[in-house]
Amino acid sequence: MLTQQANERLTRVGPGTPCGELMRRYWIPIAPASQLLDNPVRPVRILGEDLVLYRDKSGAPGLIGNRCLHRLVDMQFGIPDEKGLRCPYHGWLYARDGRCIDRPLESNKTELKQRLKSYLVQELGGLVFAWMGPLPAPALPRWDLLVWPNAVKQIGVNVIDCNWLQCQENTGDPAHSVYAHGHYFEYMLEREGKLEARVASGDHTIHTRKKWGVGIEEIYVAPTQYGFEKGIRYAKALGAEKDETHRHSTVMFPFYTQTGKAGSPRSEFQIRVPIDDTHTLHICYQVYAAPPGVTAPPQDCVPWYEPPTHDEAGRPILDYVLAQDAIMWVAQGDIVDRSQEILGRTDIPIVFQRRQLEEQIKLVETGRAPMNTFGETSPDIIYGSCEEPTDWTAPDWHQRHHVFSQAYRKMYHKGFALDDSDRYGPAIELVKQLHRAIEEAEIAARQSAPAAQ
Ligand code: FES
Ligand SMILES: [Fe+2]
Repeated sequence: MLTQQANERLTRVGPGTPCGELMRRYWIPIAPASQLLDNPVRPVRILGEDLVLYRDKSGAPGLIGNRCLHRLVDMQFGIPDEKGLRCPYHGWLYARDGRCIDRPLESNKTELKQRLKSYLVQELGGLVFAWMGPLPAPALPRWDLLVWPNAVKQIGVNVIDCNWLQCQENTGDPAHSVYAHGHYFEYMLEREGKLEARVASGDHTIHTRKKWGVGIEEIYVAPTQYGFEKGIRYAKALGAEKDETHRHSTVMFPFYTQTGKAGSPRSEFQIRVPIDDTHTLHICYQVYAAPPGVTAPPQDCVPWYEPPTHDEAGRPILDYVLAQDAIMWVAQGDIVDRSQEILGRTDIPIVFQRRQLEEQIKLVETGRAPMNTFGETSPDIIYGSCEEPTDWTAPDWHQRHHVFSQAYRKMYHKGFALDDSDRYGPAIELVKQLHRAIEEAEIAARQSAPAAQ
């Protein structure tokens, strides 16, 4: 548990708050770039600030305060110009740095002293990132999945109605999978009369996750260069099939989680961006990479989608993994009162996670740089999980990949997409095409090298 004061420090994200100041030391993903294709101007709310993201006619993205300086019309209705965004009411034009550079109906042509708030933006891997901290901005980190080549990608976005830390603490909690994605999943399908059909279709998630609950000796956590890793140690003496350690997803501070290694047929960043104190922008950055000798189907852009959380009757949809997680986060309340918790031994990584967050907040408070800020240039690729891709990117991948723990996620063409939010994604047919090609390449490689089996 935490004191209420400590809880406030970790959860509030507005300007001037301890965690808000920490967050402003990172490039923040604020939207898929493909969202600007339908409409080049859109409102965004990030860290409690109301802003407008736009792409001007020259193709450059901009991010400015949402209230026109003249009579405060919301700039989400603005008109993109060659040099910025023009207010739709009387045409005042704002440059990317927030200066008002044209007031077409005014005879007084002197430039205004006042400016709109503005932030730097950059694009990488189909996401738009904002820098809301002190200048000069450091380099935008090139995390592995963002820059991974020869892959199909798609981006799922949801607004979650609770504080960001509840979403991110899910990551520090390897044990929840057993119930939320195992027993609870099974219970929901049973209640809806869908269990038999789903299991007959080759369901994998329920079976695997329930099994993860058998023979747990301890939950471990360890710091990494970029955040922390954690997992479950199993003991045969306690009923597990064997003594083994099962690594869970990896956390890259402050708001990234990575599942699956870069270069594998399915990997993902789950990014929990604070919209304000009680809302979170949840981004699933999904990457399906092709191994050597296989070419991923091409895409014009990285498409985005919003996985549905409720059906037409307003009932929650709970038969896929992300939806199960999301309902748990919201069910903890707007901002969970951590002074009221009773933690168990399975929560050891969560305690670590809170300490790490508090340590990094203190660094910023004392004028120092927190972790994962990379100075003027980023390495070409940063392996956030601290694991170089080896299995799937090696020339003999077809002989080794069976050791990969989530290998069923290379079989979306055989129905395994059903348990994940990926099933709703606009690129899912391309993913199935890719997974089919991987299987064919694997079969061909094995047939041509029978001695290697
Ligand atoms: S309110 Fe924006 S130009 Fe008048
Ligand atoms: Fe989960």
